Amino acid sequence: MRRILVAGNWKMNLTYQEAGDLASDISGSNDSNVEVLVFPSSPFLSLANEFCDETISVGAQNCSQYDNGAFTGEVSCSMLKSMDIDWVLIGHSERRQIFHEDNQIIAQKVNTAIAQGLNVIFCCGEMLEIRDQGLQIEFVMEQIKQGLFQIPAESFKQIVIAYEPIWAIGTGATASPEQAQEMHREIREFINKNINAEVADQIRILYGGSVNASNADNLFSMQDIDGALVGGASLKADSFNNIIQAALKL
Ligand code: PGA
Repeated sequence: MRRILVAGNWKMNLTYQEAGDLASDISGSNDSNVEVLVFPSSPFLSLANEFCDETISVGAQNCSQYDNGAFTGEVSCSMLKSMDIDWVLIGHSERRQIFHEDNQIIAQKVNTAIAQGLNVIFCCGEMLEIRDQGLQIEFVMEQIKQGLFQIPAESFKQIVIAYEPIWAIGTGATASPEQAQEMHREIREFINKNINAEVADQIRILYGGSVNASNADNLFSMQDIDGALVGGASLKADSFNNIIQAALKL
């Protein structure tokens, strides 16, 4: 059985004080079927690690594709590891669109993170004009192929996929549970065909895009949805805790 993962992406929000308060107000999960993760901004990683309860893991929102050296402003995977950070988000649509990270850079980041022993939430998802043309499945499969298929099958243990349609991020327009399920099933089938059946069965596929306390249970009830990557609703402890509760009720 795949463990449900509820992950909060705080993006570039909160002050130091607010990040510490939020970290201490999140109720983690002692349930072996539900895992909770938060992704604060880099300067708040240690703070969140200190203030979150011990059942919650802390991850970074980004990492460098390079190992170490003269890369001003970047944060390396080995730095994250040395701070007891075990997770990193790679390929978020904001990184792809605003910071021009293409599939090649994303694949390099995945390779570096895997080599350093980090777990990766690999984000993918189409823009509205791609869905309007009915091309969303090919588009997302190409992102997955180019960003992930260079790693060996055994490294998929370190990978979680997050399907985040761009038209649903921060807009309040969630994909319907059926739309999300359709894409998640396609992703699992694609991995089954191209990697193997065991990886396809075990890999967790999260949905992201305007997930909140009212729509989480319907999304979580779909067969191939193994949790959520939550942006806006993870910035308030109450709403994030309610999403965790929805996962615990499954
Ligand atoms: P949202 O963001 O929940 O605010 O739509 C999700 C994300 O970007 O990960």
